[in-house]
Amino acid sequence: MKIELIDNKIFFSKGAAKQEIHPFWLRERVDGKEFLDKGTQQRLFDPSSMNIKIEIKKAKISGGFLEINFNDGVCSKINLNKIALEFAGKDTVIKPIKKIKWDSSLKNVKKFKYNENFSESKEMHDLLVSFYEYGFVIIKNVPTKKNFIVNFANSIGSVRRTNFGEYFNVKSKNNPNDLAYTTLHLSPHTDNPYRNPVPCIQLLHCIENEVDGGLSTLVDGYTVTENLKKNDKEAYQILSEIKVRFKFTDKNVVLEDWSELIRTDENKEFKQVRFSPRLDYVPILKKNKLDLYYRSRKKLSDLYNSKKYRIEFKLEPKDLIMMDNYRVLHGRTKFNPEDGERFLQGCYIDFDSTEGKLRHLKRKFNI
Ligand SMILES: [Fe+2]
Repeated sequence: MKIELIDNKIFFSKGAAKQEIHPFWLRERVDGKEFLDKGTQQRLFDPSSMNIKIEIKKAKISGGFLEINFNDGVCSKINLNKIALEFAGKDTVIKPIKKIKWDSSLKNVKKFKYNENFSESKEMHDLLVSFYEYGFVIIKNVPTKKNFIVNFANSIGSVRRTNFGEYFNVKSKNNPNDLAYTTLHLSPHTDNPYRNPVPCIQLLHCIENEVDGGLSTLVDGYTVTENLKKNDKEAYQILSEIKVRFKFTDKNVVLEDWSELIRTDENKEFKQVRFSPRLDYVPILKKNKLDLYYRSRKKLSDLYNSKKYRIEFKLEPKDLIMMDNYRVLHGRTKFNPEDGERFLQGCYIDFDSTEGKLRHLKRKFNI
């Protein structure tokens, strides 16, 4: 990529393609303390109130800077590296982290160990990269006193409070409002598919686990749905087209949201899975379409529930697992409450927390 100056016009070229940079685009990016707030780097002027007929009167490139005099009297030095970064035209921190597909053969997942200055450490940076690669991470040795999970979540970003509160206790109880609070086997699911927006990340912290069963199970929704796309296009297509209703009803609230079981982005790439077979209702469609839908949902459910894709492990006290609720499905095996205590605490954070922290740590450690 090259930036050059020809007759007071600025051009950038990439390979054989060369194009002029709009003078207004540069005028919006003027640097210096009279234009940008030093701390926040936010503009001290409103570009939409400026004359749109901005022209460059004089310009020169020197020492890695573009020095420009504009026709509205403003002069500024703009860092060429900053401009070059913008030409990437996309996120250069999160998107480039390649998702690693995994199934039951996944072994030796890197475990992280909590320590005092954890949230500001290089270790936290590595943890977040690993989280974006695998969709989950396990952190050992996280203090369990005084609902520490909330402190932990807030040290990455901000807890996403829901009608279950800031955090929730996962313990079997009488008259539960969710099957999580029983001793039953929980098949792989994503949490809260009925919320708008769905909480992005779930944190689960093991406080006590004395039972023999109650193993935690995880399935990579990305691996499963990419395989479905390859092996059963028809099923993949209908599951990524039909929006179904997810609903949660409690005494004080009725939550409802509609979504495809497999959501894709504008490039038809993986974006999110929602799966909670006790809560989804497909709308009424023509019979042959529903034939295909039910066949496809069954296929997806069989894959999510197959041993081929599932990892199982026992959470020990002080283990905290952080999982991408848009990608990874979680569940547990059944347990016998007479074996002893099984007590987990959970809470949610959103992607702005992990993205914001990762960008900050990259800046801090110059990575
Ligand atoms: Fe859950």
